[in-house]
Amino acid sequence: MADDPGLFEIMYSLRSMRRLKPDPVPDALIWKILDAATRAPSGGNTQPWRFLVIRDAATKRFIQERYKRGWERYVQANLQAAADAPVPPTADEAAARVKMVTAATHLADHLHEAPVMVLVCMQPRAMNLPPDPESQPPSPAALYASIFPAVQNLLLTCRALGLGATLTTLHLLYEQSIKDRLGIPAEIQSVALVPVGWPVGTFGPVTRAPIETVTFWDAWGTTRTR
Ligand SMILES: Cc1cc2nc3c(=O)[nH]c(=O)nc-3n(C[C@H](O)[C@H](O)[C@H](O)COP(=O)(O)O)c2cc1C
Repeated sequence: MADDPGLFEIMYSLRSMRRLKPDPVPDALIWKILDAATRAPSGGNTQPWRFLVIRDAATKRFIQERYKRGWERYVQANLQAAADAPVPPTADEAAARVKMVTAATHLADHLHEAPVMVLVCMQPRAMNLPPDPESQPPSPAALYASIFPAVQNLLLTCRALGLGATLTTLHLLYEQSIKDRLGIPAEIQSVALVPVGWPVGTFGPVTRAPIETVTFWDAWGTTRTR
């Protein structure tokens, strides 16, 4: 236990691990990451998460084929957006981008080789609130807000156990085909697809913008230095 990474080390080194070994992940670890996922908060403790653990080779391949098509369309759109950008990226930004795209392309090509895919789904709930003329209709953000804490717990637990994982959503471009293939009822939404396996690379510090650049104090636009 003394060698276990602490919470901050886990959070600060929780990279998307897109290169995974095909070696199996024991069921006990899969139960463990799902158990930790379900410790997350949810609105009214409704626990709307449902998990579909996918290990069947043909099913993984079916999903990978669609994910890859989605990734290729995404890259195409982003290349166009990058070409149209008014300000070119710095050399560091461009290098980081190339690294990410290379890893993400690897994932798209090899997704089906991940020993486990966890499809995180949601049982949506209607709010049926009494009307208020000043209020907006309930935002879907409120529904998804009850799922992503569980997804983050899942990712943190993978990292704590030395398992690599990536939060992905590109499968949503083909969600209906995937739902049909897996027999997912119409009312259930799939939210995230997380490939899990033993990582090829090592965990390391994540790159994020300094908090001063994304934090305002008391009013939008009022910044402070530390
Ligand atoms: C909502 C969401 C959707 C994402 N979808 C994908 C995806 O479809 N494919 C992928 O390779 N990465 C996906 N990512 C991972 C991000 O690209 C990644 O977290 C980000 O680039 C930061 O890199 P890091 O996690 O290695 O620090 C997604 C992340 C989030 C939060």
